[in-house]
Amino acid sequence: MTPPYYDQLAEWTEFVPESEIRRLLLIQVKYYFGGGKPGSLPIGTFQKILYQIAEELETEGLDILNYGPTGGLPSLKKTLGNRIKRKDNVILPNGEDDILISTGSQQMLYGLLDVLLRPKDVIVMARPSYLGFVVPVTKLGGEVLSVPSDMNGLIPEYVEKAIIISERELKRTPKAVYVVSDSDNPKGTTISEKRRKELFNIATQHEILIIEDSAYREIQFTKIPDPIKSYDKENEWVAYLRTSSKEAAVLRLGYSVLPEKLMDPMIKDKGYLDLCTPSLNQRILDIYYSNYIDKVLGDILRVYKERRDVMQKVIDDFFPSDGSRTNPTGGFFFWYMLNNEHFDSAKFMQDVAIPNEVVYVPGQSFYPIRGYSISKNDNELHGNRIKTNGMRLSYSYTTPEIIQEGMERLGKLLQQVA
Ligand SMILES: Cc1ncc(COP(=O)(O)O)c(C=O)c1O
Repeated sequence: MTPPYYDQLAEWTEFVPESEIRRLLLIQVKYYFGGGKPGSLPIGTFQKILYQIAEELETEGLDILNYGPTGGLPSLKKTLGNRIKRKDNVILPNGEDDILISTGSQQMLYGLLDVLLRPKDVIVMARPSYLGFVVPVTKLGGEVLSVPSDMNGLIPEYVEKAIIISERELKRTPKAVYVVSDSDNPKGTTISEKRRKELFNIATQHEILIIEDSAYREIQFTKIPDPIKSYDKENEWVAYLRTSSKEAAVLRLGYSVLPEKLMDPMIKDKGYLDLCTPSLNQRILDIYYSNYIDKVLGDILRVYKERRDVMQKVIDDFFPSDGSRTNPTGGFFFWYMLNNEHFDSAKFMQDVAIPNEVVYVPGQSFYPIRGYSISKNDNELHGNRIKTNGMRLSYSYTTPEIIQEGMERLGKLLQQVA
């Protein structure tokens, strides 16, 4: 007999799909361009830090191995606050009190939506967008309003148009605009300084929060503009999200600068989500960000840049010319799109790529499961739109040799259908 609670789980369990990326992680192939895992970590540095901590445990063990404050350890917040001020020109009017530590930036994305959303509240974002944000919007009762993006990322003109159409058709001013300014996931695009300024102006004029997810801020091969957050001198309009997962180690630690009025409800929410982020991980990363990151970042970046260069050349040499790729100057991903809008990259992967030992993430995974959209061509509100002809290709975890072989193979397979 099946106990009744199996059939009466929360409603969202019925309409929220399993993450495509988690599903793909289970597939074993030789040429894996699916997940966005870091493949260049300063392992020797973490060995040193762990030895140091082993010694610290003798005198401070009871604190290091214990619960800590929900909002994060003060000394880590100070270290990260100083780094953000120095490197990103971000002003923290209340010093480290403006920083919140989270268990991954994923928890911060979820927490922000948990705190912000009332039923049917609208969140504006690019189409496609990071699915770790797209799906929780729907899960938590909000409405996604997606806008077209181009090979340079989110387009301010369409964000403004979305706000106006939302007010007219849905009778709601959107609550927030979500943007990955630096080397976006999934497309690898970086927003220009001009667009950053325009987005900030739109947010302040319409009194909307910007959620600026800068997960790939440190993984940059060229100089990029300051974050949108740097314009937010009073710390009112932009929630600025960062993570250690790409530049340090995946110790599940995110760090954000939050507007003052959001801080208390976010800490309240986090208290119910996890009580606190592990103190040991915070101590490890405090040492890393205080003493080591600037010494090892150059080596980390060299590895990613070489992989990016190899992938770029193979796409240019072997992929169908009847398609286009983005031009990532950092981060972990390329986005490639065939011009043929009928091409179904999920079906192609299942039927052709996987049998040939290649995995990528089909583009459709990054489109909302529900919600609204606006298009370039008219001023109407449309249903959700999914394009099937794109794919996200990750170069972060695979060696240059594997990238060369696997991407060449994928390019030749695509040639047969283009
Ligand atoms: C754009 C973006 N935001 C947030 C995250 C979540 O990162 P984490 O929870 O490891 O900090 C990721 C992870 O891939 C990401 O790509």
